[in-house]
Amino acid sequence: MKDIWIRPACPDDAEDIGALNDAAFGTPDEAKIVARLAEDGDSLASLIAHNDREILGHIQFFRILINGNDIGAGLGPMSVVPERQKSGIGRGLIKLGMTMMEGQGRQLVFVLGHPDYYPKFGFSPGVAARYEAPWSGPAFMGIELSPAAPRTGTLTYPGAFGAPA
Ligand SMILES: CC(C)(COP(=O)(O)OP(=O)(O)OC[C@H]1O[C@@H](n2cnc3c(N)ncnc32)[C@H](O)[C@@H]1OP(=O)(O)O)[C@@H](O)C(=O)NCCC(=O)NCCS
Repeated sequence: MKDIWIRPACPDDAEDIGALNDAAFGTPDEAKIVARLAEDGDSLASLIAHNDREILGHIQFFRILINGNDIGAGLGPMSVVPERQKSGIGRGLIKLGMTMMEGQGRQLVFVLGHPDYYPKFGFSPGVAARYEAPWSGPAFMGIELSPAAPRTGTLTYPGAFGAPA
């Protein structure tokens, strides 16, 4: 990741983040989720990877309640510009983001995504399967960040994901 830096997103980045998500996913849905999480105060971290000219990647973390307690986090959406994928930008964003979630005292992090990608960072479908959640199956993965993490429970996702506000 030579000459690439990672920093927290600021409000002025919203348009670029939207365009990046549109380009990486091919639909505007993910950009809408990022905007809604910020509006609702459910964003825990929004990080940008950039060079000296443009934004190259973005990762979003958001709050998840576990048994009603504000101790969990969700990862996503995340995106890297198509021409720079598979060059380590996603890895850099996940590593910094996970360190921040640990620093914030988040006990578990969940993700719904590529089943071949997130296990590289310690996520496992077995961990996520222990919880009642809107998602299930091999693409729904979790990772424990604390030995105090509840071993079972119910996950409440933010309104940005279609859950009741
Ligand atoms: C998925 C995505 C965020 C990964 O970011 P990236 O910068 O390309 O990933 P990295 O270069 O950090 O990859 C780290 C490792 O994962 C591998 N990898 C990358 N994308 C992968 C994928 N979709 N599935 C499996 N492995 C993948 C890389 O080859 C690399 O392997 P290595 O450790 O053996 O070298 C990016 O490809 C992307 O934006 N895709 C389109 C949008 C999307 O699908 N977002 C995620 C939704 S779950």
